[in-house]
Amino acid sequence: MCSGSSVASALLRNDSKVKGFNGEETHVLSFINLKGGVGKTTAAVAVAEMLAQDARKHVLLIDLDPQTNATVTLISEEKWAEMDREGRTIAQLFEDRINPHVAPKFNIETAIARRVSTINDGISRLDLLPSSIRLIDLQDRIPMIAMAGNYTANPLEILRGALQPVIDRYDYIIIDCPPSCQRLMCFVNTQSIGEL
Ligand SMILES: Nc1ncnc2c1ncn2[C@@H]1O[C@H](COP(=O)(O)OP(=O)(O)OP(=O)(O)O)[C@@H](O)[C@H]1O
Ligand SMILES: [Mg+2]
Repeated sequence: MCSGSSVASALLRNDSKVKGFNGEETHVLSFINLKGGVGKTTAAVAVAEMLAQDARKHVLLIDLDPQTNATVTLISEEKWAEMDREGRTIAQLFEDRINPHVAPKFNIETAIARRVSTINDGISRLDLLPSSIRLIDLQDRIPMIAMAGNYTANPLEILRGALQPVIDRYDYIIIDCPPSCQRLMCFVNTQSIGEL
């Protein structure tokens, strides 16, 4: 059995940085491996909690996996269900783009759950952009975004745009990726985000 830190280093794709408006750099770490069940989520959550709690960094964990494992590790299932109903997950971001004639519901400020974690009733510097099981269906419909209006169909561009108002607040963005790196997810890797 691997130790937590060796799993983390094996799964950590790289550490790239994106410069915020204030000139400070935000580190972007994504946990990605095509194999399932190898500890990506466990490591991503542990690293996020450690950075926020021990290193006192401001951290945003983005859950890109429709299995929502990181999400329901950091917030309760009840809280997730409420947020999902209210369109406060990353799925709503793509849903809005797929249906441009319906009033958009996604709002990055309300979609981010603050002070998450089961440690100490929440860690004040740790925030979460939750995932949703709805992402499974949405991934198949993402190519329709370009047809639906004058939008890019590139999920990375869409995510980048949504994060712009908040990226300066964070020292680290941690991305928990699903095991199958298809469609939506294959665009969203640290290298790409770091180049933005
Ligand atoms: N270092 C470790 N030692 C022992 N068990 C571990 C370790 N890391 C994770 N596990 C266990 O392995 C299982 C899979 O872990 P995890 O969900 O983190 O994998 P994953 O790669 O994110 O899976 P998926 O590909 O489905 O998203 C879980 O039951 C978890 O508790
Ligand atoms: Mg996982």
